[in-house]
Amino acid sequence: MQIQWYPGHMYKAGKEIREALPQVDLMIEVLDARIPFSSENPMLAKLRGSKPCIKLLNKSDLADPLLTQQWQKYLERQQGVDCIALHRGEAETIRRLPDLCREMIPARGSEHKNIRTMIVGIPNVGKSTLINLLAGKSIAKTGNEPAVTKSQQRINLRNGITLSDTPGVMWPNVENRNSGYRLAATGAIKDTAMEYDDVAMFAAEYLLHHYTDNLQQRYQLEQIPVTGIELLEAIATKRGCLRKGGKVDLLKASKLFISELRAGALGRITLETPAMMEQEMAELVIIQEKKAAKKVRRRSRR
Ligand code: G4P
Repeated sequence: MQIQWYPGHMYKAGKEIREALPQVDLMIEVLDARIPFSSENPMLAKLRGSKPCIKLLNKSDLADPLLTQQWQKYLERQQGVDCIALHRGEAETIRRLPDLCREMIPARGSEHKNIRTMIVGIPNVGKSTLINLLAGKSIAKTGNEPAVTKSQQRINLRNGITLSDTPGVMWPNVENRNSGYRLAATGAIKDTAMEYDDVAMFAAEYLLHHYTDNLQQRYQLEQIPVTGIELLEAIATKRGCLRKGGKVDLLKASKLFISELRAGALGRITLETPAMMEQEMAELVIIQEKKAAKKVRRRSRR
């Protein structure tokens, strides 16, 4: 699936974050626990450099707990990174965040000095919800559609910690096609920018391989389908997604399946593992190298 982000947005966000970074001691990067790799903007790691970072695997209530643990260990291998999983219902973990920030910055660890933090993340990972919970009041606008524009603000948390909202909206950099599908399946990409049936097919194939029991339980399937399309057809029949004459309505079934997946009705599901992502990244490098070589060959023929 091809996802077109406006490169101008990416450039602007990068520039604004780069300008704000010298005034920041610690970055708090919010990721979606269901897609910790695909919900990260790779540009951020470059911008951050050696600055300490807390990676929050947010919406962990929707993610597979075993894979969340795997991801935590994997991400903590990065230098200067601490990783915690949480969700909006975990008031105690959220309350402890300022203490964790203080532990991460030993040089400025004195109670008397402020620690300046900046919260970053792509749209819809739950930043505003988290900011409101940290501030103890509603100051950031939440919304079900990605890309709600917000103005920057600074919040004083307890314990001498200040938190700045991201100056620019950070967009995912979707070079990896499968990451595009995962972002769409979890709702990080606007519904108008995706093909429902393509995304549903991707998710159906994945769940058939990794979460068969969840599918069985949710849709009471007599027989486990072999392909994604067979699964969507079975869902259509079970849930009455039919056109005139009893033909299955694949688009309707796809929408139903995706909305149930997003809402967690199929159980706690994670759409990528560290091993999977390493393999996809290695494949992406080969594809990019082939593309570059083809370009060189074409140029040399001119
Ligand atoms: P953003 O600032 O990063 O763009 O995200 P925002 O907080 O607006 O959250 C996006 C959606 O994700 C909201 O749902 C919000 O309620 C939901 N959300 C945030 N944190 C969590 C979490 O820990 N677990 C789950 N399951 N969902 C979470 P919405 O339906 O769009 O809005 P609303 O009707 O809940 O306000």
